[in-house]
Amino acid sequence: MIILAIETSCDETAAAVVHKLPNGNLKILSNIVASSEELHTKTGGIIPENAAREQIKSIIPVIDEALKIAKLEIENLTALAVTVGPGLIGSLLVGVETAKTLSYIWKKPLVPVNHLMGHIFANFLNNSPEFPILALIVSGGHTDLVYMRQHDEIKYIGATRDDAAGEAFDKCARLLGLPYPGGPSIAKAADEFLKRNRDIKLDLFPRPMIDSGNFDFSFSGLKTSVLRMTQSKDFEKYSKEELAAQVQEAIVDCLISKSIKAIEKYKPKSFLLGGGVASNSRLRKKLQTVVNSQPGMMQPSAHHSGYVMRGLIHVPEPSLCTDNAAAVAAAALINYKPVNWKSVSVNPELTIVDQLSS
Ligand code: KG4
Ligand code: ZN
Repeated sequence: MIILAIETSCDETAAAVVHKLPNGNLKILSNIVASSEELHTKTGGIIPENAAREQIKSIIPVIDEALKIAKLEIENLTALAVTVGPGLIGSLLVGVETAKTLSYIWKKPLVPVNHLMGHIFANFLNNSPEFPILALIVSGGHTDLVYMRQHDEIKYIGATRDDAAGEAFDKCARLLGLPYPGGPSIAKAADEFLKRNRDIKLDLFPRPMIDSGNFDFSFSGLKTSVLRMTQSKDFEKYSKEELAAQVQEAIVDCLISKSIKAIEKYKPKSFLLGGGVASNSRLRKKLQTVVNSQPGMMQPSAHHSGYVMRGLIHVPEPSLCTDNAAAVAAAALINYKPVNWKSVSVNPELTIVDQLSS
């Protein structure tokens, strides 16, 4: 089965061709991403209308490039797939209307994909995580912890009550005067600081809801705390790099703490990270270290034969964490529910547990 997938939920215009081999493994034949990030750096954030206009410019060249690199004829495609939500309505419409048109002209079925499922199933592109799965999606708009007994059975475990983790990175970066997109800017500044200051205490900012006893998150208090710091006399005492490291640590600690507690409670066979924030190297390393050091987590548990934590964590390579169409193809191939193009429409408010049309 070979799928051409299209992803235009935000400021990336992406197309990819992915082959599901007879043994079930997924092989990326092409994965093209055009980003309008530079444009948004000038405005300090995304202006939805600008993002949608850029989508229109890039969509056809990006699809052409994906087919060319995959060296495929249209008749070799089994189906098309497209992100229908969540995301920015103008951006989503460009991908969805293009996919519907191609589905009609090429007479290929279309698989509508929930963007958040793409972030989860990106983990199946180079790996085969075992179910049951616990997954943490950390992106610009979402922080969702879900439990999956099977590929199409999703249960909410927790979510952010206010800002998403990526949004917290972006807003705090802005307060610190670091360029958009904030996540990579904070990560870069923090990495530089941490290389030179290995033993410094990273407890300047609060870890909201860390001991809340549930699996929810909250990041708006952290943003307020950073704002207060930038307005206080203390601001001069710290370099931007140190404050970046402090912000990063606070966000990473909240994500890891709830993940570990959820792993202990749900005892999944695999823990999956996905979404743009999952490309954060501090989060990736610290999660692995914390899991490795938890007593009981490294040992096969009494409840789960073969429950060895070292192999538990799955994180896609960084380019598959941020928005891309290979992840959308993966979701479509694993949960193959093609429909007639006429029944496909955008849904900017889609959540991870919403069922798509079938
Ligand atoms: O998944 P994604 O590419 O788009 C959405 O679906 O939102 O995630 C984008 C988010 C942004 O908030 C960006 O700042 C954040 O992911 N991000 C990072 C890093 N790379 C991207 N956050 C922390 N560290 C990073 N290295
Ligand atoms: Zn995303």
